Amino acid sequence: MGKGVIIACDFKDKADTLAFLDKFKDEKLFLKIGMELFYSEGPDIVREIKNRGHKIFLDLKLHDIPNTVEKGMRSLSRLDVDMTNVHAAGTKDMMAAGLKGLTKEDGSRNTILIGVTQLTSTSQERMENELLIKEPIEDVVMHYAQNTKEAGLDGVVCSPLEVQAVKAKCGKDFITVTPGIRFAAKDAGDQVRITTPAKAKELGSDYIVVGRPITQAENPVEAYRKCVIDFID
Ligand code: C5P
Repeated sequence: MGKGVIIACDFKDKADTLAFLDKFKDEKLFLKIGMELFYSEGPDIVREIKNRGHKIFLDLKLHDIPNTVEKGMRSLSRLDVDMTNVHAAGTKDMMAAGLKGLTKEDGSRNTILIGVTQLTSTSQERMENELLIKEPIEDVVMHYAQNTKEAGLDGVVCSPLEVQAVKAKCGKDFITVTPGIRFAAKDAGDQVRITTPAKAKELGSDYIVVGRPITQAENPVEAYRKCVIDFID
């Protein structure tokens, strides 16, 4: 399993995305495409970026009845992205259905499937009052990670601060994909529990997802290199 820096391409359309990618010349990257870009441009944006030789994490967080998730994943499997995800809150049956949808008839699968545990935007208070989940949020995250593992998925999205606990519970090969990365505490923005690339490396994260610290940097290429040096080299 490789370590990697995934750049979150949170851009509104194709023009902005390609203008950003052009700064990197021919360098091959691992890019996260989320709802904003996918819903505005459709699957063609995935094909176009793949044709440029980049890897893709398609972050669409599927959550529906198992049959619908299976069929949705079957459609996505034709895009042959490198990584995609479902909400662990959809239950083990739903996650397993998603996995089935991604798997080809010969039993092979090209796409890593990970589960989203509790979104970092969900507070303990809202989880208790609105979702009626009364356990500590850390326990909920670990329980969802365990469910994700039992459903046969490859890993979870989590905070770098949760990596060690997730690996202890689900095994060292269970992949952790971690957002909330900043070079310095003063740049937190709307992220609450942040970690530097070097700290994420120390904590054993497999992939860091970095958006604004790279996309909004004065020199995105330099910011990306700093992430790679600090996290991988
Ligand atoms: O700009 P920033 O580095 O905060 O971007 C982080 C990316 O990771 C965004 O695309 C965000 O949607 C995503 N993400 C996150 N926290 C999660 C799950 C996904 O920040 N728990």
